[in-house]
Amino acid sequence: MSTTRQQGFFITFEGADGSGKSTQMRLFAARLRQAGHTVVETVEPGGTRIGGAIRAILLNPENHDLSPRAELLLYFAARAQNVDQLLLPALERGEIVLSDRWTDSTYAYQGHGRQLGTDVVVELDHVACRGHRPDLTIWVDIDLETGLERARARNAETGASAESRMDEQARDFYARVRQGYVELERLDPGRIRRVEGAGTPEEVAERVWAEWRRFEAAHV
Ligand code: TMP
Repeated sequence: MSTTRQQGFFITFEGADGSGKSTQMRLFAARLRQAGHTVVETVEPGGTRIGGAIRAILLNPENHDLSPRAELLLYFAARAQNVDQLLLPALERGEIVLSDRWTDSTYAYQGHGRQLGTDVVVELDHVACRGHRPDLTIWVDIDLETGLERARARNAETGASAESRMDEQARDFYARVRQGYVELERLDPGRIRRVEGAGTPEEVAERVWAEWRRFEAAHV
């Protein structure tokens, strides 16, 4: 199998806090590399030096006075930097880019969770991403209670100081976030593939791999 593709692919991992999507992305990246692909991993917010600085502002618990619209614009500022500096060059090299979250997160968290509406998210996506969208999105879906349990356990492990501002949000916020993902899947079922997040990481990884194989069969 070739190590570098003619045309790159852009694949994103989505899901609520505690869904296990970051673990799944790591397992998937390793498996793709084993299969001979060149893989670049990024994260939103973050992924670049400037994106990392923006992430620090967004997730700092002291920034409880950050206005929801300023927050929205910062997520897209980090993403615009990621597009120009990391995503487009890697796709041009024919590599597979994996991102831990992308605009679907903004749609679900800011559009639905913070109730800023989804039209503004779609508009800003055009500015930040210039029409570049994921080819495939794996939505790791977990029921609300399990997600909250896992997010709380992670916070307890990392200590209160590492607790993110977002993790302090209330249960109904996360219920709205999940509704955002449900809506996205309904609007774009070809791109957004829902993967059941219950079970061991290995079990979930098999489901993710099956989605990739389906995508690969249709696109390669
Ligand atoms: P992470 O824990 O998956 O790295 O994500 C960090 C937090 O940022 C998480 O609570 C979701 C939130 N977030 C948004 O609210 N909007 C966005 O556009 C992105 C990318 C993340």
